[in-house]
Amino acid sequence: MTLAVVTLAAGKGSRMKSDLPKVLHKLAGKPMLAHVLGSAAALENATQHVVIGHGAEAVKEQITGFDIRWALQAEQKGTGHAVAMAMPDVNPEATVLVLYGDVPLISTATLQKLLAETHDGNALALLTVELADPTGYGRIVRDDAGNIQAIVEHKDASAEQHKIREVNTGILAVSARLLNDWLPKLSANNAQGEYYLTDIIAMAVDNGVAVRAIHPRNEHEVQGVNDRLQLAALERVYQRGVADDLLRAGVSLADPARIDVRGSLQVGSDVVIDVGCVFEGDVVLEDGVHIGPYCVVKNSHLGAGTHVEAYSHIDEAKVAADCNIGPYARLRPGSDLRTHARVGNFCEVKKSVIGEGSKVNHLTYIGDASIGKDVNVGAGTITCNYDGVNKFKTEIGDNAFIGSNSSLVAPAKIGAGATVAAGSVITKEVADNQLAVARGKQRNIDGWERPVKK
Ligand code: UD1
Ligand code: CA
Repeated sequence: MTLAVVTLAAGKGSRMKSDLPKVLHKLAGKPMLAHVLGSAAALENATQHVVIGHGAEAVKEQITGFDIRWALQAEQKGTGHAVAMAMPDVNPEATVLVLYGDVPLISTATLQKLLAETHDGNALALLTVELADPTGYGRIVRDDAGNIQAIVEHKDASAEQHKIREVNTGILAVSARLLNDWLPKLSANNAQGEYYLTDIIAMAVDNGVAVRAIHPRNEHEVQGVNDRLQLAALERVYQRGVADDLLRAGVSLADPARIDVRGSLQVGSDVVIDVGCVFEGDVVLEDGVHIGPYCVVKNSHLGAGTHVEAYSHIDEAKVAADCNIGPYARLRPGSDLRTHARVGNFCEVKKSVIGEGSKVNHLTYIGDASIGKDVNVGAGTITCNYDGVNKFKTEIGDNAFIGSNSSLVAPAKIGAGATVAAGSVITKEVADNQLAVARGKQRNIDGWERPVKK
């Protein structure tokens, strides 16, 4: 079976009160539309078609990483009209699956179940749900034998039909062959003056095409987003799902309601995550990693046994096993911490190697540096890597000791076993095992009288 997934994303989304097209609003750090396309991309043998209208250019620009055939619906004349806009590009032998860019949490498993119901596109498969409050939705009208007869939109429904609690989610699948027959026959003769996709159900019944309905496993899979309240609610549903998966995978979460994963988080065994942490992009936490409260970790790999203390920020860093980071540490892109390294409070590291067992514990900036093994970098040390125009490198050899409050003016080279006296401004190379003292000499003046106020 070849499949054509047609995702509708032309609507404006006025209730979002935003300049951004609705489907670009983010859930878990990713546009809603990208979630839908991601679930569909896991289906076999599928082409992806997206119908755009409002903010079409922005949508095309910001949705990357998928092979998409775009269809433009210049004017939003209804869901049936929207699907028709994609059909010229759809293989007429394919089965068509209709999805919505603002229904972000639909799962691949539910879509597979729905597609199986079409029996190669010959039946029309509908995804429906029973809602306690069906107000606003299209109702599924069945005959006494329980066979689906039609979908009636809320605005077109009779008082009797308003009582029906089984509603149309909008998601359906049927052959392109049948759609190409039915879509041109739709009329806009209804309460909203729109070409309703849902009118094809009655056409199917008239043509003797079987109509089958299945339900999603979870109701949130078919919940649409019309405003920011609904988006925020789905964000929580999504995050809770991620948290539950982590718990099942053996991670300890101090509070599953207070973790946000915006990307993929891979974990080893016995990982512990405290409250308020945000993980973005691709993050790997190996066995026994502990993350303290309120940390942000983005596109980074943390080795086994590494502990990150509260309020640390780690971005595009590679951290080996058994390191200690924070509290209040910032690892910027290109930070490369080797085994047993330590980066303590109010330290910033960028594009630098911190060698095995080395310590950068207090109030320090290390940028564009390569630090060897077992080096001690004293409090307040700064690599002066930037002259306002160019960046320069600092090299520090194994076992070196950098006294507190030193400025290492790059390009700088400090040999193995060398010692830099506290408060030094290093501008010349220090050879292995030398002591460098580069500060004003202390003078003590006897009998000094303090000035008095005039
Ligand atoms: C639709 C269904 C209704 C179902 C409900 C579920 C129809 C006629 N009705 O109603 O049975 O219960 O969804 O939420 O299909 N869109 C376009 N172009 C258009 C019109 C819509 O791209 O011309 C997109 C919208 O951006 C939106 C989606 O299709 O994402 C649904 O359209 P909307 O007008 O909201 O349909 P509903 O009235 O909610
Ligand atoms: Ca809607």
